[in-house]
Amino acid sequence: MTLDLTGQHTLVTGGASGIGATVARRFASLGAHVIVTDLNDDAGAAVAAEIDGEYHHLDVSSSAEWEALIAPHGALDIVFLNAGVSTRLPGHEPSDEPLSEVTDAAYRRIMGANVDGVVFGARAVLPKMIERGSGHIVMTASMAGLGAIPFDPIYGLTKHAVVGFAKSLGQLVGPRGVCASAICPGFADTNIVSADMKAMLDLMNVPMMSPERVADTVITAIEANRPGSVWAVWGDLPIEQYEPTPAFNGLITRP
Ligand SMILES: NC(=O)c1ccc[n+]([C@@H]2O[C@H](COP(=O)([O-])OP(=O)(O)OC[C@H]3O[C@@H](n4cnc5c(N)ncnc54)[C@H](O)[C@@H]3O)[C@@H](O)[C@H]2O)c1
Repeated sequence: MTLDLTGQHTLVTGGASGIGATVARRFASLGAHVIVTDLNDDAGAAVAAEIDGEYHHLDVSSSAEWEALIAPHGALDIVFLNAGVSTRLPGHEPSDEPLSEVTDAAYRRIMGANVDGVVFGARAVLPKMIERGSGHIVMTASMAGLGAIPFDPIYGLTKHAVVGFAKSLGQLVGPRGVCASAICPGFADTNIVSADMKAMLDLMNVPMMSPERVADTVITAIEANRPGSVWAVWGDLPIEQYEPTPAFNGLITRP
């Protein structure tokens, strides 16, 4: 059965390129109206025009921009909190020196996009979803939110944060009709992975997915509608719900 999003109101952050643009196109192809948002206005507006959606500039790390964007809208049906960056500043290649080249600005930039972006986004859209008693928030975490990513520990920090946030928020708002979940893709062929990194991963035989496969994972999460669920996808392995070991599953649940 194909998911039917006819008449649904959706919003995608980081929708100008890569995974966000692909998911925006997928939502539109399933019938949804899509609000595409990004920092990159030219590319974001082009994606929105292509799918008959609307484009808004949104720096996800700004709570003021979130509030201004969401205020005029009614409850959204699906919000894809996806915008993200790696620690590497544009034009700067990382060195092997642990953390020494991470400036305060670089640290604030990644925390702002990857952590503040999902928290401010969820905080802005949740009240109207809860009032209506329905909605789905999907967050883009990463395999780096489940395991180690030695070449960018701060990226790993942010994505573990997103996984923990989605699991916990899912349990909090699930009983009120809203589903929060996270996806954890392995490497996908987008701009966030530099050409040098792609070459290195290729040498290591690490699989590089298409962004379409990540979009499949988003659709799987929406169809499953399981609050607090985390969905892993790596290469051409099956898309799987990631579960903690039974001993640690459900140690704290809502009363
Ligand atoms: N490509 C991968 O291998 C991979 C794997 C796992 C997770 N991810 C995650 O997927 C998400 C999407 O990345 P992508 O791979 O499509 O890369 P991408 O660079 O193609 O897309 C990221 C988009 O986010 C936007 N963005 C960055 N900072 C922003 C901000 N502060 N406010 C608003 N928009 C901002 C960029 O302009 C860009 O359009 C990220 O969260 C990334 O961490 C990517």
